[in-house]
Amino acid sequence: MERRSFIKQCSVFCASGIGLSLLMQSCGSVHYATSSIETNKIKITKTEFIDAKKVERKFVVIKNDRFPFPICLYKKNNAYAAVYMECSHQGCELRPNKTSLVCPCHGSEFSTEGKVLSPPADKDLKQFKVITDNEYIYIEI
Ligand code: FES
Repeated sequence: MERRSFIKQCSVFCASGIGLSLLMQSCGSVHYATSSIETNKIKITKTEFIDAKKVERKFVVIKNDRFPFPICLYKKNNAYAAVYMECSHQGCELRPNKTSLVCPCHGSEFSTEGKVLSPPADKDLKQFKVITDNEYIYIEI
């Protein structure tokens, strides 16, 4: 193998490794919580907010059969906020991060409580009432 060809193959291998690593990191940032439905409530355990390294998550995402879009559940100062991840502009699925939800379609941004931070959306997200006990979190649907 020629030196130039060897260097070119190594470069491609390294670049694909870095790209794969970044992709894995971005996929790993969203945790899909295990949940169950009890009559008109979604129930999840509080331990869903603790990752394998015992680090507290800022949010978890919950999918269920009753809604076409997931619900994002944020935790801030031992209080919880649950918001529906359907953009109020034209209905795209939002992407959550630690501090906000961003729409990939036209760039609207919402607070962790579902308030509009950036247009073109001009309506807040649907919010759900959240109650807790010692062990569980209940989202009223
Ligand atoms: S659908 Fe979300 S900003 Fe347009």
